[in-house]
Amino acid sequence: MSPIISVNFNYPVRYRLGAGRARELPDLCKERGLNHPLVVTDPQVAALPWFSGLIQLLRQAGLDPVVFQDVHPNPVASDVEAGIALYRASGCRGVVLIGGGSALDAGKCVALLVDNEGSLFDYEDVGDNYKRADPSKIVPMIALPTTAGTGSEVGRASLIINDLHEKKVIFHPQMQPPDVIADPELTVGLPASLTAYTGIDAYVHCFEAYCATGYHPMADGIALEGMRLVKEYLPRAVAYGADIQARTHMILASSMGATAFQKGLGVVHAIAHAIGGKLGGHHGLLNAILLPYCMVFNRSAIEERCVSVARHLGLKTASFDALLDWTLALRTDLGVPHTLEAIAGMNQQKALELAPLAHADAALAGNPKPATVSELAEIMKAALAGRLAM
Ligand SMILES: [Fe+2]
Repeated sequence: MSPIISVNFNYPVRYRLGAGRARELPDLCKERGLNHPLVVTDPQVAALPWFSGLIQLLRQAGLDPVVFQDVHPNPVASDVEAGIALYRASGCRGVVLIGGGSALDAGKCVALLVDNEGSLFDYEDVGDNYKRADPSKIVPMIALPTTAGTGSEVGRASLIINDLHEKKVIFHPQMQPPDVIADPELTVGLPASLTAYTGIDAYVHCFEAYCATGYHPMADGIALEGMRLVKEYLPRAVAYGADIQARTHMILASSMGATAFQKGLGVVHAIAHAIGGKLGGHHGLLNAILLPYCMVFNRSAIEERCVSVARHLGLKTASFDALLDWTLALRTDLGVPHTLEAIAGMNQQKALELAPLAHADAALAGNPKPATVSELAEIMKAALAGRLAM
């Protein structure tokens, strides 16, 4: 029997990891002066018994939380605006973020904007836009992830959909919540399919970061080990949802993925953002479907890197092909569809329409090989047809 993990890190933020540690939230709120916080979450999490228990715990400790739960699965600007309005109307101080990527992303934007000038898309990650914000006016945050995938709890950006159904990156270096409580018990109720999709998202963060352009050995090291944790523990977390050890390693792997992708992402995320913004579809599912096709597209630029990944994962052969085969087998084992046909509304025509959006996506900048609009369309067409040879 392996020992139960319960540790504190101070990198990349103050990070408490371990089962049951959500119960430390009231004391942490008091330490940080969050006596009257806005608690940002989504309707699914708000309906869970442990959530009301946690709110009760805050009240019993003499705190006065205000719950805001109106966050869409892919958050939109009006979610953030409604959160800001409630924060101001209630005279809150600080934000507690509890949820998957969507609630965390929306809550981080509330914290950025509630005391700062300007509107949400003034802070799109373009040029020096982030300098419009006074960092001292970003209100304190504490993040509690309830999925193991996006790693938004340690990320410095949020993805929000604009009126044109495009996913936009809102960025500020101080949007990274300084305190995280990563309690794997909060992820235990996640259905097997969502555990799989979010877990593969964490893997893709690590993989794309490791293959991204640029010199960043720290990110590379974190990415490699993050991938190993996913290989070892994601199948367990999917098969045995209550396996706390697997859930613990997966929640950490998720934070590691987002830590690593400060280096950059790539074509998988660029396409997934374009499809997800216009058609919906779970972000992790989109990444999971797209990953092998994008590996094949990038092959000439990532072959050596894939040898290192295969070696670190302990595959029998350290080669690109072995890694591709393992990736395909993992997807099959976890019940991920092989083609984009599984995404409602996706077809050959949409591939052509969405390619320019994917080309304009900020994630593409990290891809180890340039990709033209027509090449992006070809990747999507291949992923529709289930055709790995391009
Ligand atoms: Fe992602």
